[in-house]
Amino acid sequence: MATLDLPALIDIHVHLREPGGTHKEDFSSGTAAALAGGIVAVLDMPNNTPPLVDEDTLGDKIRLASRSARCDFAFYMGASSDNAAAPTVGPHVVGLKMYLDETYGPLRVASLPTVMAHFRSWPRNRPIAAHAEGLSSAIAIGLAQLYDRRLHLCHVSRKAEIELVRRAKEKGTSITCEVAPHHLFLTEEDAKELGSLARTRPPLGTQEDNEALWANLEVIDAVASDHAPHTIAEKQSDDPPSGVPGLETTLPLL
Ligand code: DOR
Ligand code: ZN
Ligand code: ZN
Repeated sequence: MATLDLPALIDIHVHLREPGGTHKEDFSSGTAAALAGGIVAVLDMPNNTPPLVDEDTLGDKIRLASRSARCDFAFYMGASSDNAAAPTVGPHVVGLKMYLDETYGPLRVASLPTVMAHFRSWPRNRPIAAHAEGLSSAIAIGLAQLYDRRLHLCHVSRKAEIELVRRAKEKGTSITCEVAPHHLFLTEEDAKELGSLARTRPPLGTQEDNEALWANLEVIDAVASDHAPHTIAEKQSDDPPSGVPGLETTLPLL
């Protein structure tokens, strides 16, 4: 039987829910899922309750994860409306996560002066990772060029977005991007069948979006799960939150 030996994976985009959402997931269960899925290190997002936005909340998260995580981990700091002047956290995290669109949790930077302040002050040796849908991705790329910053676009899901990334790379912009497995394997047609279980941000795209991702694999730097668990009861409620799990399924799907 032919075998394929792979190094273990690093998942650069997960939401492990501790602190504040441990009825959905905690460091113990999330990192167990990672190991079961062939992943040995997770980079965890800051949209917790409370969000990771300063040294105190970073310290709390490191303490919690050190107690129960079963694999390696590191954290992103979240960009908020008032923490651009405190980039001292920079050297201790993998990057700054900036939410330019509405998603799960309170973290979102919606004003241009705030976004500019982050692009000005974030340490140059760490990327800014953006949740940017559609037009927002063009804004993020433009700012990365103007401020000469490394930009990472999270979960690129649309044809126009991946075309923009290709063009930005051709122009020499310091940009990387990731794609999530649900955008590689599902479309809005599947969402009709799956209902609220498939609700996620960015939403599942069209067949054309899906084909554009597969046609542009060489400009995609990473597949990242965007593992974002909620309980079944929450997903089946009248106001289902967005987010789907993926730590255990990403590598087998690929
Ligand atoms: O659908 C999403 N859920 N998209 C995000 O960006 C956040 C995530 C979550 O934390 O649930
Ligand atoms: Zn996101
Ligand atoms: Zn995410």
